[in-house]
Amino acid sequence: MLRRRQYVFNEVAALYDEVRPGYPPAIIDAAIAQARLPSGGRILEIGCGRGLLCTYLALSRPTRSVLGVDIDPARIGQAQQVARTLPNLDLDYGVAESGRVPAGPWDAILVVDMLYLLPVAQQRELLTAAAAELAPGGLVLVKEMSAAPWYSASPAPTAAACGSV
Ligand SMILES: C[S@@+](CC[C@H](N)C(=O)[O-])C[C@H]1O[C@@H](n2cnc3c(N)ncnc32)[C@H](O)[C@@H]1O
Repeated sequence: MLRRRQYVFNEVAALYDEVRPGYPPAIIDAAIAQARLPSGGRILEIGCGRGLLCTYLALSRPTRSVLGVDIDPARIGQAQQVARTLPNLDLDYGVAESGRVPAGPWDAILVVDMLYLLPVAQQRELLTAAAAELAPGGLVLVKEMSAAPWYSASPAPTAAACGSV
């Protein structure tokens, strides 16, 4: 059951790729600003999937050093394929066991739309382990799904709309 829960996403990964939009810059920039994500330094994403967010973070601020990890080797393979087309960026990926946080210090650790796939006890363990790998002043940023989101992707959001967050 536990294993099934952790790997359940893989069963719908292809469909997710098909319907998942990219990150609209106005929305992601507003969220990044609100979270005070550093514009440089070492950034880790746990559960990075095919690297949509890591790619955006590295492209938007080449001063960032970005590492994405995921339990799914196929997703990491996809992410690495994209990273190879962006050789000037400090952008890397790796497969990680569930619950393992690569050694810091990290200026920010992101967990985006992934925590819900873990049982509550493992969520706590992961966040505790992440916090232990932060640089002084670093932050752990968690984004999860909500039944009442503060934005809607349809119609396309504008920067003005995001400003009311
Ligand atoms: C819904 S996707 C989100 C991917 C990415 N964060 C994004 O926003 O596009 C969830 C991802 O979490 C990964 N995942 C699930 N359990 C994990 C775990 N215990 N450790 C690391 N990654 C995990 C899955 O393989 C999948 O790539």
